[in-house]
Amino acid sequence: MLDIKIERTTAPKEKPNEDKLGFGQIFTDHMYIMDYNEGQGWHDPRIVPYAPISLAPSAMVFHYAQEMFEGLKAYHADDGRVLLFRPDRNAQRAGNSCKRLCIPPVPEEDFIEAIKALVGVDRDWIPTRPGTSLYIRPFIIATDEHLGVHPSLSYKFIIILSPSGAYYASGLDPVKIWIEDDYVRAVRGGIGEAKAGGNYAASLKAQEKSDAEGYAQVLWLDGVERKYIEEVGSMNIFFKIAGKVVTPRLNGSILPGVTRASCLDLCRHWGLEVEERRVSVDELVSAARDGSLEECFGSGTAAVISPVGTLRFGDEVMEISGGAIGPLSQRLYDTVTGIQTGKLPDEFGWTVEVK
Ligand code: COI
Repeated sequence: MLDIKIERTTAPKEKPNEDKLGFGQIFTDHMYIMDYNEGQGWHDPRIVPYAPISLAPSAMVFHYAQEMFEGLKAYHADDGRVLLFRPDRNAQRAGNSCKRLCIPPVPEEDFIEAIKALVGVDRDWIPTRPGTSLYIRPFIIATDEHLGVHPSLSYKFIIILSPSGAYYASGLDPVKIWIEDDYVRAVRGGIGEAKAGGNYAASLKAQEKSDAEGYAQVLWLDGVERKYIEEVGSMNIFFKIAGKVVTPRLNGSILPGVTRASCLDLCRHWGLEVEERRVSVDELVSAARDGSLEECFGSGTAAVISPVGTLRFGDEVMEISGGAIGPLSQRLYDTVTGIQTGKLPDEFGWTVEVK
């Protein structure tokens, strides 16, 4: 049990207009901070007013990117409860990311307790309009003042909160995705399966390219053969091919998404045929040509379920589901958001209440 000191703000900010939240642009009144030093371990947990933090210019995070983050959401249920969605999965994944990046992990129960405490303090910031939620961003940064390349001996674990709407401005309208065959995001043995800021820095150049072509995001191919589908910039990817639900299997360079796992669980529970396997871009092109590529959607905490209406690979433009959301994507969206917001029964025990 953490002994969290709470310092409440004396100048609460005005709450935003829920129609114009966007994603990750507005921050609540408070943040959580906890420090790590070798010898002392994680210590001094506190909730303080949201404000800039001061770090030495030599802090290691600025130079060698020793950093990890997580993303999850809190929802307002109609009956007044505040719900988190599978925070144990985020805590577990955070531990794995820390291991890969030589960061001392925050114990899973402390990770969840810290989130619950901060969301509890800022619960009035959870928006209530359909499609909105409180996005939770925990992260850890290396703070040693040192330019040698080695793991830092001191860190900060911080959590910030952002009332958010849909990740894509288009909401549930299908997005256009660019399949990238030049730049790569990650390779096996690298840090692709960790949730590390560096993976996203590596993605920006290709994102610029897809933006210029009018595409919302990049779909990455594997870094070795440049042949197999991996994931999209901010979400995992699913296809429905000839009646089967297909998604790339986790191979060490793909992020193991919590929403991905939930979609797989739901599809299996519904008795659908599900395949986690390698999916080549050639297979997609053939399936799109012969009409067996029935649906495509992304899954992610921020994006939830995001239908994909167009995939482009070189000169090949694949139109899917006639540019509309497909029935499986809609069913998954309704079910996942229904469970998250307490509208549907939580048969799987996925939600955790913040009291
Ligand atoms: C999330 O879905 O929580 C993510 O971390 C994606 C993010 C890069 C926007």
